Amino acid sequence: MKNIQFSATSAVSHQDLLSLMPQVRAAQQTLVQGSGEGNDYIGWLTLPDDIQCQIQDIQATAALLRERCEIIVCIGIGGSYLGAKAVNEALLPFFGAYHQQQPAIIYAGQNISEDYLYELQQLLTHHSFGIICISKSGTTTEPALAFRLLKSQLEQQIGESAARERIVCITDAQRGALRTLATQQGYKTFVIEDNVGGRFSVLSPVGLLPIACAGLDIQALVDGAREMKNLCYNQNVEEHPAAQYAAARTILYRSGKTVELLANFHPKMHYISEWWKQLFGESEGKGHHGIFPASVDFTTDLHSMGQYIQDGERILMETVLSIEQPNHSVIFPHDEQNLDGLNFLSGKRVDEVNKMAELGTMLAHVDGGVPNMKITLPQLNEFYLGELIYMMEYACGLSGYMLGINPFNQPGVEAYKRNMFALLNKPGYEAESAAIQARLKK
Ligand code: PA5
Repeated sequence: MKNIQFSATSAVSHQDLLSLMPQVRAAQQTLVQGSGEGNDYIGWLTLPDDIQCQIQDIQATAALLRERCEIIVCIGIGGSYLGAKAVNEALLPFFGAYHQQQPAIIYAGQNISEDYLYELQQLLTHHSFGIICISKSGTTTEPALAFRLLKSQLEQQIGESAARERIVCITDAQRGALRTLATQQGYKTFVIEDNVGGRFSVLSPVGLLPIACAGLDIQALVDGAREMKNLCYNQNVEEHPAAQYAAARTILYRSGKTVELLANFHPKMHYISEWWKQLFGESEGKGHHGIFPASVDFTTDLHSMGQYIQDGERILMETVLSIEQPNHSVIFPHDEQNLDGLNFLSGKRVDEVNKMAELGTMLAHVDGGVPNMKITLPQLNEFYLGELIYMMEYACGLSGYMLGINPFNQPGVEAYKRNMFALLNKPGYEAESAAIQARLKK
């Protein structure tokens, strides 16, 4: 069977890759032996095996929600939302709303936009809906706000007792406001283990329940992740794609390429990039170090960002997520008049044009001083996304340790929260409120 492949194309030489391997090996030892900083957050390493005993429960819960709801609202932010959104967007049909796909999966708690919440509430007024509320801490402002609004709306629409049958909470086993509420109300719950951080939680119930609710095959997703785990654990570092990728991007970073663009040629991959940006950005951006993760959707963005990539500051490296076989076939038709001059493409698959755009872009970017790496998925399905997810997580752990930072904490994300609470006069923030008001008056 095929697996995901990594190739450094012309970005780095084979010799450079080999030279870095002792460092990759050391980072791998630190990671799998749990001897590095952040070692209390490496539960994700064995999730593909550990989660197996919960798959049935997750599937059964999803089946109940699917039966009862026209719309399932997944409430969460950051690591408690992006993994599920990424997999669902990648695998569900485009234009789902027009196919009246049931149930529709909608997201909330990932912003504080009043208009977003208003329009969502309006929509839900006309539908039977359920809620999955996901928050590891159980105290994050954005999801807590959305949950309070939607829980109360659901209770008004169908009554408190029926609402209890349509609310599922995924949170800490013991701590946090969400756990307390779920226990009080008797909601169905799943646990986010202490040793799994938000951005590494997609293969836990955090990601798997919303993905199962979308009707996707979570067993295949986990099987793919387990396959990649086995490669990472059993192959030499020179051979497994996670280590190869971590090595190549580290070499490029050390040579001055401080921004990594994750590029796709399939719009369904957009949110995979969003998930990847959080994974690497929150893991590596520390102590004024780290590759800045950015993303582009091609060929769309070649018509907007293409100029900069080709010819702007030479700080970019690029990783192309390539899909070998599309899931459908469309043949380009012949036209008698040929006014658009495209008859040279007649009879070809649209993907052949896309693939040549991909190759042409990669060559042009290399010529322009943007080294390319390529990750090839044989097909876009649950299994290969499972492989990709695990590969990226593992590469992220290796890259972080090679960078000399703790890849599993995120101290920087507290700064905005402190200011926001101070500005909103949250009880307990009196000193911060006074200080920030004085600062604003200056
Ligand atoms: O990766 C992380 O830790 C963060 O992105 C969190 O997942 C995010 O802030 C949401 O936190 P919580 O699940 O506690 O609501």
